[in-house]
Amino acid sequence: MTKIILDCDPGHDDAIAMLLAWGNPDIELLGVTTVAGNQTLEKVTTNARALATVGSITGVPFAAGASRPLVGPQLIPEEIHGDSGLDGPQLPAPGVELDSRHAIQLIADIVAEQPDKSVTLVPTGSLTNVALFARTYPELVERVAGVTLMGGGHHTGNMTPAAEFNILADPEAAQIVFEAQWPVTMVGLDVTHKVLATPDRMEQLKKVNTDVSQFIAELVEFFGGSYMKERRYPGPPMHDPLAVAAVADPLILTTVRAPIQVETKGEFTRGQTVVDLRRTWNPDQAEDPSALGIADDYEADAHGVRHCVGIDVDADRFWDLLTSALTRIGTTNFRG
Ligand code: RIB
Ligand code: CA
Repeated sequence: MTKIILDCDPGHDDAIAMLLAWGNPDIELLGVTTVAGNQTLEKVTTNARALATVGSITGVPFAAGASRPLVGPQLIPEEIHGDSGLDGPQLPAPGVELDSRHAIQLIADIVAEQPDKSVTLVPTGSLTNVALFARTYPELVERVAGVTLMGGGHHTGNMTPAAEFNILADPEAAQIVFEAQWPVTMVGLDVTHKVLATPDRMEQLKKVNTDVSQFIAELVEFFGGSYMKERRYPGPPMHDPLAVAAVADPLILTTVRAPIQVETKGEFTRGQTVVDLRRTWNPDQAEDPSALGIADDYEADAHGVRHCVGIDVDADRFWDLLTSALTRIGTTNFRG
């Protein structure tokens, strides 16, 4: 069982990620925090609370976080997620009261009360909350098991040729997160673009035949329309659900260890995740990291780097995982 905190900006794919986290038997969802990104903080937080109704998510605290990036302007991709941030299906009323704590306080309280290195942070939006957490509670950073984030890419961007949205939305925050002393696994566009919700994949999900799987079909219909119009894709990428899936079943992703740096200044490259694949570290080649005086569980490479980047994905395994999670959630009658 892997304990996670989902930091998100629902967002169509964030919504599917949340339902996957709730329905997967190998994940314990300890908290949900929201951050401005796909829409304003207010809108993504309302969406997140409504998703608790959709999935019948109970016993999980939901807290709102940063309403804007640390330094740069706020970017809102309305062309992809619409005015509400979750356009398409009719949303139910919010099913959970908002926790009174700020997101980073909730993250800190959960990490502090859980056993050492037992909680994985799974950010699927901009990294503003996670950066603020690392800066506000530096003593808790080493107690976090790791950060598995949806963001970046080593060979392409989506908002610009170089930058993916979650990183470009707050490059300074991303730089803080990648430089902090915790393991980071980057689930970037290199792999999320290999799990597209094409019509045949959606046929598999529709066989679950519940109100929740129907809700996801309606999400994908809107999300897919945006991706077809804006990017000519045959189906929208399952960006955020893949980050959750990578935690639930690490065999879904093929990763390599490689130093990742975030460009914050480039005229054409601000928000780029610069992955030094020249220095991928193969445990069979480099010296044992513990010889470097670095704790094995940080799995640092010979350069003290704790970064992993996804380079390939078992798409069939991902879709089976999502289908199983929806089957496990069953019908919630969220539409009354
Ligand atoms: O670039 C894709 C990412 O940006 C996803 O997390 C999507 O939800 C948006 O936030
Ligand atoms: Ca997102």
